Amino acid sequence: MYPTAPLYESLARLQSRRSVKAMHLQEPAPSNTDLEQILQTAIRVPDHGKLGPWRFIRFTGQSRAAFGELLAQRYGELNPDASAQNKTFERNRLLRAPAVIAVIAHIKAPHKIPQWEQQLSVGAACQNMLVAACLLGYGAQWLTEWYAYDHVIDQALGLADNERVAGYIYIGAAETQPPERVRPKLEDVLSDWQLP
Ligand SMILES: Cc1cc2nc3c(=O)[nH]c(=O)nc-3n(C[C@H](O)[C@H](O)[C@H](O)COP(=O)(O)O)c2cc1C
Repeated sequence: MYPTAPLYESLARLQSRRSVKAMHLQEPAPSNTDLEQILQTAIRVPDHGKLGPWRFIRFTGQSRAAFGELLAQRYGELNPDASAQNKTFERNRLLRAPAVIAVIAHIKAPHKIPQWEQQLSVGAACQNMLVAACLLGYGAQWLTEWYAYDHVIDQALGLADNERVAGYIYIGAAETQPPERVRPKLEDVLSDWQLP
């Protein structure tokens, strides 16, 4: 039967969802099964034209440190005066969380489906990952930081010309519950359309 019964518990969980800062994400890593669930949910997004304008690169275990080496090296190139402390931070960036997924926008252009709509689908994939992680009890954060915008790092990720990073989704167990964040009031962002 469709529609199916409401899942008020899930709704309540989502309405209290907060991003957990990457630095507050810790072991245990999501199990392979849970990570697969999160990724399966990510690809279950509206996708005009069935283009699948997204792909994912998984960082778990050692690959996080190896990628961190590249980040430190590139950071040093971009910031010749960088302190050893800053470079160490870069080296450890992905190690902040036990699992990190780079979400890659794979945009078809020119195409009758506007690029904007393809990008929106990629954003939805990122958000679905946050939602799935939240429903499975993990903390997660969608970050771009500087390395989502660097062409050398893009090369290290093996991105094609029509690809770019939409975000790095950091996932792990939340060390603590994050404090509430100021949210817009619904009435401030909602209006009823009226004939002009
Ligand atoms: C596309 C995108 C990129 C983001 N990049 C960063 C970032 O680089 N650094 C950061 O501190 N927050 C970033 N954020 C914000 C966090 O993901 C998060 O939304 C914010 O911390 C608020 O938490 P909330 O999800 O509980 O509202 C980004 C959000 C989006 C949508």
